[in-house]
Amino acid sequence: MLYGVFSDVHANFEALKAVLAFFRKNTVSRFICCGDLVGYGPQPGECVREVMGLPGLDIVLGNHDAALTGKMELRWFNKNALTAIAFAKKELSKIELVYLAALPETVKTEDFTLVHGTPRKPLTEYLLSEDQFLENLAYWDRSPCFMGHSHTPIYFRQSGGLPPETGFLRPKAKIVLDGARYMLNPGSVGQPRDGNHRASCGLYNSKKKTFEIFRVDYDFSKTQELMRAAGFPGVLIERLAFGL
Ligand SMILES: [Fe+2]
Repeated sequence: MLYGVFSDVHANFEALKAVLAFFRKNTVSRFICCGDLVGYGPQPGECVREVMGLPGLDIVLGNHDAALTGKMELRWFNKNALTAIAFAKKELSKIELVYLAALPETVKTEDFTLVHGTPRKPLTEYLLSEDQFLENLAYWDRSPCFMGHSHTPIYFRQSGGLPPETGFLRPKAKIVLDGARYMLNPGSVGQPRDGNHRASCGLYNSKKKTFEIFRVDYDFSKTQELMRAAGFPGVLIERLAFGL
C-alpha cells in the first residue's frame, strides 16, 4: 500500500493543494495526516473540507485543532497562534468543527501508529531528543510511528539494545524500514520550520517498507496575500517565505 503522509497543514490551502496534487501524481492509495489542519493560516475551512473529502484517510487531532474545538486550554498558545485560532473559529462551519472535535489523539493500524506530538503526550510533547524517543518507546508498538508537531522532517530509529539514531530528512531522503522501530515526521505542509519554504510531505510504502521525504513548490505569495487581507500578524506572514 502506498500512503501519502502529511502533517501540520495549518490552514495553508495553497500548500495543501500542491501536496495533494503530488500525492495523486504518485497514485497513492491512502492518506495519513498527523494533525493540525488549522491555525496560523488564512483558509481553515477550505483545508478542513478538502481533507474531510479524502478517501482512505487516517488522521489524528493536533494541538491547534484541539484548541479550536475547546479540547485544550488556550494558555498553551502564544499571542500570534491565538489570533489565528480565533480567526478559524469564525470561519469554520458547525459540521467542520464537529469533525475536528471528533478526531482521535492516537490511531493504530496494521501498518503504522499515528500521533500528532508523541505517543506519551499526543497533543503537547515535541519529539526532539533521543532521550524522549527512548522514553516514548513504551507507549506504542506498531512501527513506524508517524508524528508531526515540530514541523521538521526527522527520523528516530532504535534496534535491539543498540543506542538510538536520529537525523534530519533532506528532500528525497529515503529510509528503508528494517526490523527496527521508527518514529517518522514528514515535516509541515503549511508552515515548514527547517529553513526550506517548500511544503514537506512523505510517501510510505508499507509493502516495500520504505519512507521518502519530498518538498513541493507552491505559490506562498497567494497565502500571504490572504493573510494580509485578513489582518494576520506580520511574523506569521513573513515566515512562509523563509520556512522558519
Ligand atoms: Fe503544528
